[in-house]
Amino acid sequence: MQIEEVKSNTREQRVATHSHIRGLGLKSDGTAEPVATGFVGQENAREAAGYIVDLVKAKKMAGRAVLLTGAPGTGKTAIAYAVSQELGPKVPFCPMVGSEVYSTEIKKTEVLMENFRRAIGLRVRETKEVYEGEVTEISPEEAENPLGGYSKTVSRVVVGLKTVKGTKQLLLDPSIYEGLLKEKVAVGDVIYIESNTGAVKRVGRSDAYAAEFDLEAEEYVPLPKGDVLKKREVVQDVTLHDLDMANAKPQGGQDIISMMGQLMKPRKTEITDKLRQEINKVVNQYIEQGTAELIPGVLFIDEVHMLDIECFTYLNRALESTLSPIVILATNRGMCTIRGTEDVEAPHGIPLDLLDRLLIIRTMPYTLDEIGVILEIRAKTEGLKLDGGALRRVAEKGISSSLRYAMQLLTPAAILAKLQGREEILTADIDEAATLFFDAKTSAQLVAQQSERFLS
Ligand SMILES: Nc1ncnc2c1ncn2[C@@H]1O[C@H](COP(=O)(O)OP(=O)(O)OP(=O)(O)O)[C@@H](O)[C@H]1O
Ligand SMILES: [Mg+2]
Repeated sequence: MQIEEVKSNTREQRVATHSHIRGLGLKSDGTAEPVATGFVGQENAREAAGYIVDLVKAKKMAGRAVLLTGAPGTGKTAIAYAVSQELGPKVPFCPMVGSEVYSTEIKKTEVLMENFRRAIGLRVRETKEVYEGEVTEISPEEAENPLGGYSKTVSRVVVGLKTVKGTKQLLLDPSIYEGLLKEKVAVGDVIYIESNTGAVKRVGRSDAYAAEFDLEAEEYVPLPKGDVLKKREVVQDVTLHDLDMANAKPQGGQDIISMMGQLMKPRKTEITDKLRQEINKVVNQYIEQGTAELIPGVLFIDEVHMLDIECFTYLNRALESTLSPIVILATNRGMCTIRGTEDVEAPHGIPLDLLDRLLIIRTMPYTLDEIGVILEIRAKTEGLKLDGGALRRVAEKGISSSLRYAMQLLTPAAILAKLQGREEILTADIDEAATLFFDAKTSAQLVAQQSERFLS
């Protein structure tokens, strides 16, 4: 009674700088609203990205790749994250940065392969025996810690479940109590517990409680019908990488239940090519039988010019595979040398044969007004107040250096204002922040001018 659900190994997204963006901001006909969901301007690129979203949803994009190009700070990364938001949480989205492949422990292509598999989802439908109902009570029973000391441990937990037809009291193992805590289950929630694995799943809040306080994020569900113990279709979303991880240390048989259900330690274990092939084989079987459905997601490689020729070759080949996600690349480089070659120049540092198969989306520089609006949105997200003059000044910085630099000035300027005992940021605070922190261009100039003073 302790098989856990496969722990999803989704990667943390670095979204703090894009937290004001909540989607592509497109109308239902696919055209871009000038200002929506935190996005300002850049209409063509957003519309193009919307088209990509549609293709992904229609599952017509597998094995294809898109390249976002444009000057620094023109919203390439922001667009990629907006795409992931449009796709929703059920479609895997795996972000990475080109330079991540250079690790001393893992081969470059291995890093790419792993991320490819993080971006391919599998939705598995199984009929399982579950206890389902509205929670009427959760009473953990404590006992002395067998290891001594003053702390207590939970020895078992009593859970009451109610359906339209009746009520049942279950006496459960402490491992299930952990599951209840993890799913943040409270009295009044509708949950189910898989009878053979003990996995707990919160379905939603019982609609008998709908009026109590209106939390927006809450999903209300009706009181389940039938008996507490019943058969139910259980849907699990996992990625191929989750399956690789779960099976790197085989414990059970080859059926999907044990494949899905193996207890995962966060520690990295060896995933071999052979294991991946085995998993692909089983996955393909399940897809053929209709038990599982493939959900190709998105692999986003930012700063793709950091990859070298070996990685590009790998990428080219991986895109041909039948199990391939959509790959979105982004770069701000123009003509440059392809890494790993002596002097082969190529646009964006990407070999021509790969470039040739990419759909390319360009992002354009912003106008002063657009930058102003973006900074206003950003200030609001960060809870900062600027007066009109300060907003104009920081927007000008956005034009003269970059949008990102202008955004980064906001926080120090806010601190300077606070030191003066003000809530509102004034022009002087922006100017002072700009003298304290250089932008990339100025810094590069200084290095060039005073090269004799630096070590080289
Ligand atoms: N059109 C926009 N609307 C709102 N915010 C934007 C827009 N474009 C960019 N931003 C914000 O500006 C900042 C810089 O943009 P982003 O990081 O996406 O640039 P980038 O094109 O990826 O630059 P780089 O080439 O340097 O990586 C981010 O915080 C981003 O969220
Ligand atoms: Mg970027």
